[in-house]
Amino acid sequence: MAKILVTGGAGFIGSHVCKYLAAHAYEVVVYDNLSTGHREMVRWGAFEHGDVRDDARLRSVLRKHKPDALIHFASSISVGESVQDPGAYYDNNVLGSLRIMQVLAQEGVRPLVASGSAAVYGLPESVPVAETARTAPINPYGRTKLVMEWMLEDFARAHGLPWMVLRYFNAAGADPEGETGESHDPETHLIPNVLKAVRFPKERQVALFGDDYPTADGTCIRDYIHVMDLASAHVLACEHLLQGKASQSVNLGTGHGFSVREIVDAAERVTGRKVPYVIKARRDGDPARLVADPSKARELLGWQTRYSDIETILRTAWAWEQKKVQ
Ligand code: UFG
Repeated sequence: MAKILVTGGAGFIGSHVCKYLAAHAYEVVVYDNLSTGHREMVRWGAFEHGDVRDDARLRSVLRKHKPDALIHFASSISVGESVQDPGAYYDNNVLGSLRIMQVLAQEGVRPLVASGSAAVYGLPESVPVAETARTAPINPYGRTKLVMEWMLEDFARAHGLPWMVLRYFNAAGADPEGETGESHDPETHLIPNVLKAVRFPKERQVALFGDDYPTADGTCIRDYIHVMDLASAHVLACEHLLQGKASQSVNLGTGHGFSVREIVDAAERVTGRKVPYVIKARRDGDPARLVADPSKARELLGWQTRYSDIETILRTAWAWEQKKVQ
């Protein structure tokens, strides 16, 4: 049975990947500093408390568990926060990734699958966006993810480190069995904010950022991908690298876009309630359209989505939202 060390395994995407790994006969070890992750979401493997920048701790965990591969999620994820405090983002995301690569180079390289982002494309010239599109991030968060990709290329060349970066579009939804889900604080993402407004209509409205974009209904279009479909892609990526196949970056999205207003409409259908919202000004740095070309993930990894229709995304996210203690 292959053993996988998952950094950031107590977080949103990480915890779903751990559940998926355990269900597919992998042994899981979570490495997380719990700065944004949740101890109660570590349910599918051993837990080692630690920060990815702490190379001594990382080395001792690697020696203790001897994982066959690593999946690296531990990073800071908020675009707005990265603009306010770029140092924290370069520190956690760039230095954290670098420490992992250095420790692997010293202790023996093994496959490393890492969280990337569509943020590396910045404001894409056209959609759908393939991996060959120009990378031109427009904020520190996106830049940290691109620097990580460059470092991986260099470590592969110098030390033979096998790697795959999965560039997520809009991760959404929750475990269909309701055991884990999205719990960010503060929450910045559209779908959980829409569902919070449905749940607490007297206390909160969701702000829709801009209705004057050059799209059919004036709101931004995004490619929402269910977190369990992201999970299966990570396992396929590990298998790909464990079979000795080529290192590269791969988009994860559905290829279909939904506008902010379409998400609001779908949330009303799924919940059977009204979404209280208010139109606000555009948020800085939001591209009008961001939709993946996911052909490479399908062809290279044989990846297929199972849960990423918008109803399933919203139904699973809504079930999770209602379980949360507020
Ligand atoms: N939006 C709202 N109201 C909200 C939150 C979001 O109207 O309360 C809008 C945004 O303006 C955007 C869309 O809903 O048009 C989606 O916004 P999210 O914040 O949910 O997601 P983003 O597309 O901004 O972010 C995602 C990832 C980031 C990544 C980025 C790349 O979450 O990690 O794509 O562009 F950097």
